[in-house]
Amino acid sequence: MTASSATSKQPPVAPPCAMVIFGAGGDLTKRLVMPALYNLSCSGLLPKSFALVGVDLVQQSVSDWQQHLHDFLASSIKKGGEGSEPGETVDEAAWSRLAGTMSYLSGDLSNEQTFEQLSDHLSELDRQKGLGGNVLFYLAVAERFFGPTVDHLGRAGLTVEEGESWRRVVIEKPFGHDLASAIALDKQVLSVLREEQVYRIDHFLGKETVQNIMALRFANGLFEPIWNRDRIDHVQITVAETVGVERRGKFYESTGALRDMVPNHVFQLLAMTAMEPPSAFDADAIRAKKAEVFTSMHALEPEDAVRGQYGAGTIKGEPVAPYREEPDVSRGSVTETFVAMRLMIDNWRWAGVPFYLRTGKRMTKRKTEIAIRFKQAPFAMFRDTRVDALGENWLIISIQPEEGMKLQFNAKRPGPTLTFEHVAMSFNYDDWFKQAPATGYETLIFDCFIGDATLFQRADQLEAAWKVVQPVVDRWARHDASFPNYAAGSAGPEESNELLEREGRAWLPI
Ligand code: BG6
Repeated sequence: MTASSATSKQPPVAPPCAMVIFGAGGDLTKRLVMPALYNLSCSGLLPKSFALVGVDLVQQSVSDWQQHLHDFLASSIKKGGEGSEPGETVDEAAWSRLAGTMSYLSGDLSNEQTFEQLSDHLSELDRQKGLGGNVLFYLAVAERFFGPTVDHLGRAGLTVEEGESWRRVVIEKPFGHDLASAIALDKQVLSVLREEQVYRIDHFLGKETVQNIMALRFANGLFEPIWNRDRIDHVQITVAETVGVERRGKFYESTGALRDMVPNHVFQLLAMTAMEPPSAFDADAIRAKKAEVFTSMHALEPEDAVRGQYGAGTIKGEPVAPYREEPDVSRGSVTETFVAMRLMIDNWRWAGVPFYLRTGKRMTKRKTEIAIRFKQAPFAMFRDTRVDALGENWLIISIQPEEGMKLQFNAKRPGPTLTFEHVAMSFNYDDWFKQAPATGYETLIFDCFIGDATLFQRADQLEAAWKVVQPVVDRWARHDASFPNYAAGSAGPEESNELLEREGRAWLPI
């Protein structure tokens, strides 16, 4: 992400480089990384000299790999996936530009030879294409391979930066499965790489609407003066999904909603909302302010967290099976598919303002939003008006699928008597901008090419985030839950409502 505008600087150009995808045959590569590279190719943002190397255990030729990816891309574009209109087709010229850069190595990531082979291959590509020694390694593999793969890269001399060249490593989530393992992984990774070489990716930060929170807050004089405990009553962050665990039962059983979504995606939304203004628009300044949000948060009290697991229910008129009947899920599973919590941030801006967060699978609707509830007016002028006759003032930032913002307030209804109507001013992205199809990974991958780490997590942020949720992770590991406790297609378990009701508040409808 670079600070520029229609009238200011030219966007930067990606330098020559190779990109190596470990896990080239996997789902993440197919569904997100390759479509993002294709979209970059469509918008002419790939480096002029570029080589894409796929590495995976799967034995296949480069043309098999290309065909498989092209087929997926074509079918998802046709269905209107990745932001395209249904019925569209692949831009074959853009695809060919990308396909022409691809090569494939089959190899086992636990075998040193794979990395020696890769090293030779990269040297050869550099000789042919002039890649300046720059390499981006993308770990699109299961969490257990993160540390060992970085070790192997180090041992094969692949992380050494000579002269102006760079070597960067993108690490996917989950970065650790608790505080201790996140610290251990950081230690392992940072024994091979410098922090500046590590790009811990969180794809929520690639979403335009998430990045826009910073623009909303810091590019306008309007909101910042009221963005604090004096004017804000509380904040609700909702990340509701209608999908279940799909084919990821095995992964999800040992992960659960809290680890899968909270210290990463949901906390990123929270940090964007709560951070102090950074002193400069650069990676270190911004990441330091975000880290401060997490270090100012009280550790989560077990009574301020609620977990849930979906039972059978109905979504969009279709019956859906309970979590315990999903493939690769244990019939007596106590893994949570929903979590809600109340968090407090202990600083001057936010003291006393609760942040309520909830995320879950198989909920009523797909909806990610940040809702900010402002305090009521003192009512002095409207003494005769019942307090509950006035609507509440909310600023709703819609992240997905709706993208925009809505400010809700009271207006006088036309007529001789003084009555109020709850009205709204709305901004929709679509009304103002023609958006290119995007998975959210485009910006992030491009940022790796140009070395802008603003939208990536730093070790201190992640560790501070884990510290906040760790007491609840521990508590839930010791105590079984009585599941299922919410129906698929609902807004989650009743206890989630109670979390707010005990403070005289209520969730907005999903
Ligand atoms: C992933 C989680 O990181 O984010 C998934 O592992 C979740 O469980 C997904 O469904 C949500 O991302 P998005 O972009 O679809 O909202």
